[in-house]
This record gives sequence, C-alpha cells and structure tokens, in this order.
Amino acid sequence: MPSRILIIGACGQIGSELTTKLREINGIENVIASDINTRKLDLVNSGPFEIIDAKNFNAIKDCCKHYNIDTIYLMAALLSATGEKYPMEAWDLNMNSLFHVLNLAKGGTIKKVYWPSSIAVFGPTTPRELTPQHTICEPTTVYGITKQVGERWCEYYYKKYGVDVRGLRYPGIISHKAMPGGGTTDYAVEIYHEAIKTGKYECFLSENTNLPMMFMDDAIKATIDLMDAPSEDLTIRSSYNLAAISFTPKQIYESIKAHLPDFTMTYQPDFRQAIADSWPSSIDDSVARRDWNWQHRFDLDAMTKVMLKALRKKYHNLI
Ligand code: SER
Repeated sequence: MPSRILIIGACGQIGSELTTKLREINGIENVIASDINTRKLDLVNSGPFEIIDAKNFNAIKDCCKHYNIDTIYLMAALLSATGEKYPMEAWDLNMNSLFHVLNLAKGGTIKKVYWPSSIAVFGPTTPRELTPQHTICEPTTVYGITKQVGERWCEYYYKKYGVDVRGLRYPGIISHKAMPGGGTTDYAVEIYHEAIKTGKYECFLSENTNLPMMFMDDAIKATIDLMDAPSEDLTIRSSYNLAAISFTPKQIYESIKAHLPDFTMTYQPDFRQAIADSWPSSIDDSVARRDWNWQHRFDLDAMTKVMLKALRKKYHNLI
C-alpha cells in the first residue's frame, strides 16, 4: 500500500515542490497538502488540501485521522531573518509544530516523520570550512536555536519512544518556482529574478560571503532518498549534514554574467550579513554520503543555466 502523506507548510518554497514530487511518486490522492492559507492555488486545486495551522495540535491530529496518514513532512517554519524580527513567534511556531508532530508519532499511527534542520544550527564557534557532522553548535539566531533544540528532541523521541524521525541540515535552497521567505540565503534566489527582470541587483550580503547552497532538485532528491532509506542504515536521528555547492555573491554574479553580459550588481550589506558571517562556508556531508548514498547533481553553472531558462520563460515567455 502506498504511504498516506501529510505535508504541513506545503505552500512554502520547499514544501510546494516536495508536494508536487511526492504526488508524482505516490499518487495525488495519497498526498495531502496543508498550509495556514491557500496562497498557492495550483497546489490547492491539484489534489487534497487542508487549511492547518501548524501550531494547532488538534487540527493536525484530526487531519491525520481523517486521511489515515502514516507519514508527515513538517515544512512550516519561520526562517533566520524573519526569526530575528519576531523571535517569540519563531520559537512558538518552530518548536510547537515539532512537538505536535513528534507527540502524534509517539502515539503509533504515524510511522515516519520528516523534519528539516539547517546550517543555522552552527554558529561563530563552529569550524567554518568543511564543518563536520558532529561539532560545536552554538547558534546565534533564534531560528538556529530552534533548529538545534529541535534536533535534540528528534533524537530523543527516536531513542526514547522509537519515533522514526529523519532530518537534513539544508543549506540555502535555490529554486525558480515558489519564492523563499525570510532567509539569509534568499539573495541567491532574488539575484536570478532581478537579473532577468531588471538586469541589476543590490545584494544584502558582501561580495565574498561564502555560504553552502543547493539547487532545489537536489534538495528534493535528498529529502526523498533519506525518507526511502532503510531505517537500520541511518546512524543520525538529529539531522544529517547535507552539501552540494558553496559560492559567494561575486561568484554567482559571474556565473549569471556569463549569460547576461550587461547584468550589474551592487552590495549593500544589512543585518543579514552578521547571520551569514556566523554560518559555515562549506559542509562535510560524508556521513550522509556513506549512510544513504547521498549524491548531488547540480553545480553552480548547471544551476544558473536552469534558473535563467525557467525565469526567462516565466517573465518574458521566452523558450
Ligand atoms: N535558508 C535558511 C535561511 O537563510 C537557512 O536554512 O534562513
């Protein structure tokens, strides 16, 4: 029997593409999308959709019962930049939604849980280059604190109650469909949109800020590969380090400029610079590569080609 899947936060940047992919694999009727509102109408109209506030335990529980859900992907979260503006809201949403899902899973009807963590669990005292799986984690953002604490709780629920919970420390994710919301790595998405729309971009990070990043197709593949892996192969229940590429604003600018020679970029670092400076510049994900055979496919230039082609079509209807 195929899994019956609930995606919480399905209208977000990653949630929306994950929903589409999981519907392709498992059948539309087996993947229930949910979000706090109906902002992505294509998802609402293309399969089962429920309005669910991730902070509402009973709403999640009732939905799971109604659809016989056995697998939950909890994609709702406030990200790093928004979290600094609304610290208590970030704590409230990011932690309570996780507890709701873990407590439901502890009851036994939910067989598998996916919960994303982030490079934001690391902080200024973490080794910056090729950051290891097991290392110092002293995050300085509210978002990072929620992800670090969440990781501890995931491992606790696995060890104490046998909850089959799995997670990835996503780097910055780049995609051309839904926009990211409120992250420090969002510049690497905005830059492509502005390059196509206006031919210029003002970057909120300085030109040599090197951060770990990944194209959306790789992030979706990683998520699904991890969830498909045999439970006994997994040695990490907090969250796996995950990597593909690292680049600076200057390097992504050059990659775009190779296709759009008139593209110009200026730099105006804001409060997000301090967040970026506290994060690693590259990640050692050898444990993920060993345990469940993780491999990325897109480098910077391959991603740039796909992004520019898709956005040319979107904004100028050019093939
Ligand atoms: N993309 C996230 C952020 O910038 C990091 O996980 O907040």
